[in-house]
Amino acid sequence: MQVHSATFIISNTDVSKCPNTSIPEYAFIGRSNVGKSSLLNTICKKKNLAKTSSRPGKTQLINHFLINKNWHLVDLPGFGYARVSKTDKKKFQKFITNYFKQRKQLVSAFLLIDIRHEPQPIDLNFMQWLGENYIPFSIVFTKADKLKPAARKRNINNYTSEMLETQWEELPPIFITSSLHKTGSEEILTYINSLNKDFTETNPL
Ligand code: GTP
Ligand code: MG
Repeated sequence: MQVHSATFIISNTDVSKCPNTSIPEYAFIGRSNVGKSSLLNTICKKKNLAKTSSRPGKTQLINHFLINKNWHLVDLPGFGYARVSKTDKKKFQKFITNYFKQRKQLVSAFLLIDIRHEPQPIDLNFMQWLGENYIPFSIVFTKADKLKPAARKRNINNYTSEMLETQWEELPPIFITSSLHKTGSEEILTYINSLNKDFTETNPL
């Protein structure tokens, strides 16, 4: 699938104020600084569509983008940002959990994970929570350019083995991306395209 149009629609903290449409939706979630906003820009081939920063905590709101006039891509704030106050963390957790629990249009989440790290409890816990709430998700490893192929493979294997040993009987779809080298976005778009087709078949106009 080619992205021929990508436009910002609205930002907010209230899921009830998200666009009132019935088109399929996909959301990027993951730790602060993992590269969610950068990946959105890479996928849309637009440099500054979503705001990015080398400092964690840049994205603070639920941001809707309309792609090809027929589906939404959502850039969410990151979790696990240590410098946010406890009250803010709670507020954040609430609106993000409300988003995932209430947003009926959400077809699938993409959980972004920095490929450089060992399996992190915060990510494994979030996967568990998605599973408990019946929210389909894929895993997207980011910043692949930072590692050599052998190290990439080793880290992905560590993650998948940990998942299979602790929580999951089978693995979700897995993507490997680099926003620096602009790799991996085609595969994500092909996957979204196939989910969009299923969505249209099960939700005819
Ligand atoms: P929050 O909005 O704070 O949750 O962060 P985010 O997950 O949206 O991360 P963002 O896209 O703002 O990127 C964080 C930093 O990582 C920026 O300095 C990006 O340039 C950098 N970055 C993102 N993706 C990649 C990548 O694939 N490779 C490299 N080398 N750097 C990346
Ligand atoms: Mg961001």
